[in-house]
Amino acid sequence: MLLTTIEAVRSWRRAAHDPVGLVPTMGFLHEAHLSLVRRAREQNSRVVATVFVNPTQFGASEDLETYPRNFRRDLALLEEVGCDVVFAPAPEEMYPRGFQTWVEVSEVARSHEGARRPGHFRGVATVVLKLFGIVEPIRAYFGEKDAQQLAVIRRMARDLDSPVEIVGCPTVREPDGLAMSSRNAYLSPVERIAAPVLFRSLCAARDRWLTGERRAAALKSEMLGILDTEPLAGVEYVSLADPDTFEELVEARPPALLSLAVRVGRARLIDNLRLVEPGAHRGTEG
Ligand code: PAJ
Repeated sequence: MLLTTIEAVRSWRRAAHDPVGLVPTMGFLHEAHLSLVRRAREQNSRVVATVFVNPTQFGASEDLETYPRNFRRDLALLEEVGCDVVFAPAPEEMYPRGFQTWVEVSEVARSHEGARRPGHFRGVATVVLKLFGIVEPIRAYFGEKDAQQLAVIRRMARDLDSPVEIVGCPTVREPDGLAMSSRNAYLSPVERIAAPVLFRSLCAARDRWLTGERRAAALKSEMLGILDTEPLAGVEYVSLADPDTFEELVEARPPALLSLAVRVGRARLIDNLRLVEPGAHRGTEG
């Protein structure tokens, strides 16, 4: 069922049976989005997915206008995967005239993506809290591919006493390792061949770590060395950080997250890999 107004969602919600799982998206869906819906399906009796290209999380020089869209296809995929409700509001429905209240998560949102994309996480946190208030889910599903976004949302939910359980889901990759992303559509055929260099560099650093290297500087220079072999890759940052606070680490002791942002053509790609002790149990790692 497609709903486009907040009022319609509220009245569906009054009649719906608990528990409801929420999967927020910006559409142009791929297999990773669908994996979140499947997970929500398993854990809740009703699933709501949202398709909303949230204007407030795009910077002035970013790709809001050209962000890929294919709403008909999104609807068909969501129906196929067993979504009960698709909420797809117009921007004016979410941000009517006079809108002026924002959710600002401070430290976790400051570095990495937050430093390169001013205002981005303010837009994300605000729209996600609004969706929590509209849909009133018991659980909401987010991908580990956007690790800092997940950390920001977890922090927000904790700080603002949200009753919604935040469920992190493993990164879904193409067979050659490239993390799925709607923005991969920007890649030309040669750029698409170059793009798996992000995952290769993460794996190389993880392998160094597995063979005993603990210095963050050495792990980051391992990543840069691999990225350097790909002339189409323009590195924005490589990082080893705490996955909850996003503070940069000097030494790689779990919990620790390798991450990077790289430009390939007009696509800005991000990826990450968690360092996990061999043999350590980790429920969600794919
Ligand atoms: P979007 O980029 O459409 O992603 C929607 C959800 O899918 C996010 O939780 C994201 O982390 C997850 N996702 C995307 N690619 C993934 C992959 N390869 N593996 C696992 N999960 C993946 O992220 C957003 O939209 C927006 O910021 C949003 C949270 C909807 C707020 O507007």
